[in-house]
Amino acid sequence: MLRPVLSIGLVSATVLLGGMALTGSASAEPGAAPAQSQAAKYPADSLRALGDRVGLRIGTAVNTDELGSNADYTRITAEQFSSVTPENVMKWQLVEPTRGTYDWAAADRLVAFAKKNKQLVRGHTLVWHSQLPTWLSSDGYTTTLSNDELKALLKKHIQDQVKHFRGDIWQWDVVNEAFDDDGQPRQTIWYKAWGGLGYIADAFRWAREADPKALLFYNDYNLEFTGAKSNAVYDLVRSLKAQRVPIDGVGFQGHLDTQYGFPDLQNNLQRFADLGLKVAETEVDVRTFTQAPPNENTPTNPLAGYAQESYWSRALKACLAVRECISFTPWGFGDTYSWIPGWFDNPQEGAALLYDGNLQPKSQYYVLQQDLALAAGAPHRSGPGAGRN
Ligand code: G3I
Repeated sequence: MLRPVLSIGLVSATVLLGGMALTGSASAEPGAAPAQSQAAKYPADSLRALGDRVGLRIGTAVNTDELGSNADYTRITAEQFSSVTPENVMKWQLVEPTRGTYDWAAADRLVAFAKKNKQLVRGHTLVWHSQLPTWLSSDGYTTTLSNDELKALLKKHIQDQVKHFRGDIWQWDVVNEAFDDDGQPRQTIWYKAWGGLGYIADAFRWAREADPKALLFYNDYNLEFTGAKSNAVYDLVRSLKAQRVPIDGVGFQGHLDTQYGFPDLQNNLQRFADLGLKVAETEVDVRTFTQAPPNENTPTNPLAGYAQESYWSRALKACLAVRECISFTPWGFGDTYSWIPGWFDNPQEGAALLYDGNLQPKSQYYVLQQDLALAAGAPHRSGPGAGRN
C-alpha cells in the first residue's frame, strides 16, 4: 500500500492508492485490451479516470479531421479525456461558410462521439473576431455590413447555434478574447457595432434563452497573469454579475511559454471564483523553443523539458486547488496537430502538448497522471460543476 502525501496549494492530501500501478496505459501495445474501470470502458490509470475521483473533467481540443480516420488519435481521445472541445468546427467560419447555409456535420459528429464515450462537450466559440466567414468580415476588425445588420446577424448566429446543440453542450464559450493585452477592449466589428462592450451582455442573454442549462463562459488568454488584461476582465465579469447578466464562468486558456515564467494562476482562478463563478483551464499548452533563435550561438535550453513538466504540473495543481475549477483542457494532445509550430515560427517554438508526433505520451503526460493519482485530497467538484454524466 502506497501512502504518498501531496501538498496542493493550501490543500494537504494523504491518499491510499491501493497498489494502483501507474504504467501509462497510453503506451500499451496497439490492440492490447486496456484495463477497464468498473464504471466505463476506459483505463483505470487514464487521465479521465483519475480526474473523475475529484470530479474534475480532463478535456482535450479535438481535430475532427483526425477523429475517426486516425485510429490511435481516436482511441486516445476516447480513453484519456472526459470532455472534448471542437478545435475549429463550431466556429462561425466553419458552421456558416455561405451566408444563410449552415453546415453542422463535423460538429455533430463530435457531439455523437462524445455521447458514445460519456464525454461532456465545451462549445467553442460563439462571439469572436477571428475565424469569421469572409462574407461577414475578412479580419474581424472591418466589415462592409451596417451596425444594424451586424446586431441582427450576431443574435441569429447565437440563437441558431445554441438551439442546434441545445442539451448537448456542458459549457459554452460565449465570448472569446474581447480584450487586448493592455486591458483595452479589442476594437472588433462587434465592439464598433455596439459602440462599446454592450454586445457581451446581449450575447450571454441570447445564449441563456436558447439553452437555459448550458454553463455560459467568457474565455480569454493571459488571464493567468495578474495585470492589465486580467484586471480588465475581472472588472467586466464583476459588473456583468452585478447586472444579473447570465454568466456562469470564466475560461483561462492557459497558452503558456517557458520563456515568460509561470503565472500566478491559482490566485487568479481563485479571485474570479470568489465572484461566484465557475472557472476552467480551457486551452492549456506549454510551448518552448525547439530551435535556436537565428543569429544566436546559444543552443536551445537543454533544461526546457524540465520546465515544461513543471509548468504542466503547476497548471493542473492550480486547478485542483480551486474547487470551482471544473475542467482542465489541454489544447489537443499530439504535437503534430498543435497550432503552435505554425504560429510561432521565428524562432521556432513547439513541443507544447502531452504526446509527441507519433502520439506517444511524453514525460509531461506521466507528470499529470501522477499528479492526478495523488490528488484525492483536493476538494471534490460536486454538484452541477462535476458534469452531467
Ligand atoms: O481548413 C483550412 C484548410 O481548408 C486550408 O487549406 C488551410 C490553409 O491555411 O487552412 C485551414 O484552416 C486553418 C484552420 O485552423 C483549420 O486547420 C486555418 O488556416 C488556421 O488559421 C486555423 O487555426 C486555428 C486558430 O485557432 C485560428 O485562429 C487553430 O487550428 C486553432 O487551434 C486555434 O485555436 C485558438 C482558439 O480557438 C482560441 N484561442 C487561441 C487558440 C490558438 O490560436
